[in-house]
Amino acid sequence: MHGIMFALLLSVVYEMGRVTSTSRGDVTPEVVYQWNIIEYEWPNETLKQQEINNNNYLPNNSAVNGIKLYRNRVYVTVPRLKDGVPSTLNVIIDATSENTDANVSHILRPYPSWEMQELGNCDALQIVQSMEIDPHTGYMWVIDTGSKPSGSLSVQPVDRCPAKIIIYDLTTNKEVHRYIFPPEVVGQGLYYLNDIVLGFSEGKARYAFISDTLAYKLVVYDYVDDTSYAYSHSSMAADPAHKNITINNMTLPGIVTGINGIAMSPDYQYVYYSAVAGVGLHQIETSVLISAKGDNAAFAAAVRTLGDKISPGDGMAYSDNHNLYYSALGPNAVYHWDIKTDLNAAGGDFNKIQLISHSELVSHMQMEWVDTLAIDNGYLWFTTSRLQKFFSTDGIVHHEPNFFIWKLHIGENSYLTKTGPTLGTSCVTASVASMATCVLVYLLS
Ligand SMILES: *[C@@H]1O[C@H](CO)[C@@H](O)[C@H](O)[C@H]1NC(C)=O
Ligand SMILES: *[C@@H]1O[C@H](CO)[C@@H](O)[C@H](O)[C@H]1NC(C)=O
Ligand SMILES: *[C@@H]1O[C@H](CO)[C@@H](O)[C@H](O)[C@H]1NC(C)=O
Ligand SMILES: *[C@@H]1O[C@H](CO)[C@@H](O)[C@H](O)[C@H]1NC(C)=O
Repeated sequence: MHGIMFALLLSVVYEMGRVTSTSRGDVTPEVVYQWNIIEYEWPNETLKQQEINNNNYLPNNSAVNGIKLYRNRVYVTVPRLKDGVPSTLNVIIDATSENTDANVSHILRPYPSWEMQELGNCDALQIVQSMEIDPHTGYMWVIDTGSKPSGSLSVQPVDRCPAKIIIYDLTTNKEVHRYIFPPEVVGQGLYYLNDIVLGFSEGKARYAFISDTLAYKLVVYDYVDDTSYAYSHSSMAADPAHKNITINNMTLPGIVTGINGIAMSPDYQYVYYSAVAGVGLHQIETSVLISAKGDNAAFAAAVRTLGDKISPGDGMAYSDNHNLYYSALGPNAVYHWDIKTDLNAAGGDFNKIQLISHSELVSHMQMEWVDTLAIDNGYLWFTTSRLQKFFSTDGIVHHEPNFFIWKLHIGENSYLTKTGPTLGTSCVTASVASMATCVLVYLLS
């Protein structure tokens, strides 16, 4: 009886949630993966049962959030937002009868290994929300907040490990580099490394720009100098007017997460960011971020608010063709900002651009909490993590799909497609490689 009722309900829900497409034409998202409960590839069934019995694995507490792709492999994070998450960084594999007894088609294989997921071992990965992959080298830059879970994100954790960046070579699966953040940059009070974009200099990934969504900071890591610094600004805080987020009639109240979604322009000249609890979209020149070395006054003098997004949101992604895609929490949508149109209106000057020409790219009843976006090989991929339900008192329910990975053809590539121009170089003195971008910017204007 229940089963039939539920099936009926599902079909109604499905009809109501029919995909809408907008002026961008034929955009039909495909569900690539979906899970009721996230399943992992365990070394053996005995160990899995033992971890369940010890409460080290609480199957209800894993939510897929972060996503990035490399050579047709899909890497996902399960941040340790609650207790009982066995593995925080993973690659998706097909389920076989040998690696799972569960009724799922795809499972998560810990990346790079089970050993690197050991909770409480500060050398291993502790709580990974995001990573970025340099498509030119196959290096994955992983941000690890380090702190152990302590019930709620807004409670200061104890026995924390320091926050760090680890870079893996996805071809050899070897660690290339690691950097431990000094506590004055990341590690005092509340902090949470949320999202990361890369900045290129002289043809190589040199800078990581990272949102710290609980300290309300924008953190810069310089790989060449192996140093870091951070900026604070009021635009990074959670806006009291947007602390309640309602998705499909369920409200997650009291959201404290500030700066979260972060995006980089394909010429590596501008960084864009937004708070989860907030609607403003902000822009800062990369040259300021790397030259001001953490000087908040220089940041405040240079940052611009471009306008309001349609709603609060989570992740963002910028394509190689000057389109910015952003998560819209509430509308269950991904929005698209047509930057070229607004650049024309601004006389071709990125320093004058406003957020005007943005519209819905896609929405669906089941796109609950559009979380992280990634652009790969002509497709926009994104996770929906249903966090409003995950963080509710009852948590997720097993009998419906909770976590989805969607993909949608946009015919564009990631902002990381080109390795130039050199940061801070003007078009007059630019190298031949970066000249192309200068010409493109000129043509756009
Ligand atoms: C299961 O895997 C663990 C970890 O690799 C190992 O220590 C244990 O011996 C294995 N148990 C069985 C029954 O194979
Ligand atoms: C958010 O919800 C709480 C109740 O949970 C309410 O007291 C508060 O006024 C709401 N805030 C806003 C900005 O709507
Ligand atoms: C939300 O509530 C409104 C009003 O009660 C109802 O019409 C609508 O169907 C609900 N939507 C969902 C997704 O439950
Ligand atoms: C997990 O969620 C299900 C509801 O689908 C519930 O019955 C079960 O008690 C939960 N388990 C734990 C350990 O909370």
